[in-house]
Amino acid sequence: MAKKEKAKLIVGGRELELDVIVGSEGERAIDISRLRSETGYITLDEGFMNTGSCTSDITFINGEEGVLRYRGYSIEDLCEHSTFTEVSYLLLHNRLPNLEQRENFSRLLNEHSLLHEDMRHFYNNFPHDAHPMNILGTMVNAMSSFYPNVDLLSMRDNIDMTAARLLSKIRTIACYAYKKTMGHPIVYPQKDFKYCENFLRMMFWSPVNNYELDADRVRALSVLLVLHADHEQNCSTSTVRLVGSAHANLYASISAGISALWGPLHGGANQAVIDMLEKIHRQGGDIKKFIAKAKDKKSSFRLSGFGHRVYKNYDPRAKIIKKMCSRVLEDEAEHQPLLDIALRLEEAVLQDEYFISRKLYPNVDFYSGLVYMALGFPTNMFTVLFAIGRMPGWIAHWKEMIQNPKAKIGRPRQIYTGSRQRDYVPIQQRS
Ligand code: ACO
Repeated sequence: MAKKEKAKLIVGGRELELDVIVGSEGERAIDISRLRSETGYITLDEGFMNTGSCTSDITFINGEEGVLRYRGYSIEDLCEHSTFTEVSYLLLHNRLPNLEQRENFSRLLNEHSLLHEDMRHFYNNFPHDAHPMNILGTMVNAMSSFYPNVDLLSMRDNIDMTAARLLSKIRTIACYAYKKTMGHPIVYPQKDFKYCENFLRMMFWSPVNNYELDADRVRALSVLLVLHADHEQNCSTSTVRLVGSAHANLYASISAGISALWGPLHGGANQAVIDMLEKIHRQGGDIKKFIAKAKDKKSSFRLSGFGHRVYKNYDPRAKIIKKMCSRVLEDEAEHQPLLDIALRLEEAVLQDEYFISRKLYPNVDFYSGLVYMALGFPTNMFTVLFAIGRMPGWIAHWKEMIQNPKAKIGRPRQIYTGSRQRDYVPIQQRS
């Protein structure tokens, strides 16, 4: 048997031999779980640039080579051959469903697609211009009160039903939020339609607009959701795991993940990209000015849709969306100027020393907004689409953590740098 790799650490006059954990794709981690108890030291790694928070069987990324696989299947294969429903099943169950399993899963999704009628009243109390991500997070959190058995054991035992509930209802919640902002009547899900068909219909059908489903658009939406379905320990998924590690229920954990995703450095970037492209367009299409500003260290401006913590190569998801973008936008003269600016921006960035040396490539958000626009989604729904896509990943990670008998509550440490002990000063004596 091959000798197990070890790492040696010399600290505080002691030498410590630490185990090296090797993943199935050969990634290596030094196991420091004994470090503090044996030496009194902790590690400090702001932004978790080098820190693994768990082992996981769900998603593999090789950021240097631009590889992404869910449960071992390449993202390219899944986008070409699979659907969002099937990929959701794969992430949750670690296998592609057979015909019967897929039918049962679709049935569950259909049965749980309606929202409790009382939850509709919530929508009336949001201001008309409330951001749909805010509505989404609030409504998912409120599901804890509307759907029983939120204690850990019931959720763990009924994970299929809870997962179907979340996957299906989040789409209904999102469409109601959109209709609320439009002041239009809501459209109920219908059992004859598949997941993405229902989604588009609930968004765009109205009594005065008999929205016709188009197979290419349905397919484009499904691919976009597949592309967002998981991305291992990103900010929102780590949030879901951290909140869930306190044994908070799944709805509360996912609601926290939605809040994290809303941030412009994470899922909010797809909306920021379109805002940026529109601004460039309004100002005459001069991309050089924006590139110069992004490189200027005195400015906090960054090119939205470029750079990634893990990908130091072309994001494989961006590659797939870029191809789809040209196809979906082919007949959309209205959006061509933004696509042209995006293509020019990418070309210039990929030749610019600043971006080359920092390995900054287009990420998943750079082209996704253009496709969402072509499908008819307004910009404030882009991050909501990301959240719907990410739902199976969040649930799969919650499930993996909760089923791990060794899982502990997430509780990082810190190095305190504040004042040392001070004596309390009564208010009359304070300057
Ligand atoms: N434009 C200009 N410069 C950038 C950009 C950008 N988009 N991204 C990174 N840089 C520069 C930084 O200024 C820094 O330069 P320095 O070394 O001279 O200080 C260097 O590249 C490294 O950047 P960090 O912020 O340290 O990289 P980090 O891994 O922490 O951040 C992030 C990654 C947040 C994605 C960053 O690239 C960014 O802000 N991008 C724009 C926002 C965006 O597109 N977010 C979506 C990410 S994908 C997702 O969440 C789904």
